[in-house]
Amino acid sequence: MSFNIIRVIVILLLPYVILASDLDIEQKAGLKLFKSYCWGCHHQSAEAFGPSFRSIANRRTPQQIMAQIVNPQAVYKTLGYKRNSMPAFNDLNASQIKILTDFIISFKDKK
Ligand code: HEC
Repeated sequence: MSFNIIRVIVILLLPYVILASDLDIEQKAGLKLFKSYCWGCHHQSAEAFGPSFRSIANRRTPQQIMAQIVNPQAVYKTLGYKRNSMPAFNDLNASQIKILTDFIISFKDKK
């Protein structure tokens, strides 16, 4: 009897466990991409050569972030910058760009 209850609980919780570990994998992939491509100029919560990911996450939409990563020359003015000093990362694939964008968004302050 109590064994069955435990089984039901485990089955009910399983999707959440899988979902949580998926998010974790994506977060790790984001950290890795961030460290290889962005860390020289952006830090997670402190201003560096470029703005911090936290300040970006609090001000921008995912679309603006993706556009800046792929084609900063076309976007910097619309984001209010006078000049563009960030290189384009157009050799990253769509899934890497998505992972990086989600990673940046994850620094948004919780309300
Ligand atoms: C060589 C330095 C440099 C590197 C490397 C760099 N950035 Fe930037 N980034 C900047 C600067 C400077 C700006 C300010 C706008 C500009 O120059 O175009 C900026 C702006 C941004 C913005 C928009 C800021 C805003 O106000 O919303 C995003 C998003 C961004 N960077 C993401 C990234 C990501 C993701 C990476 C790694 C794939 C990266 N950057 C790598 C220097 C850099």
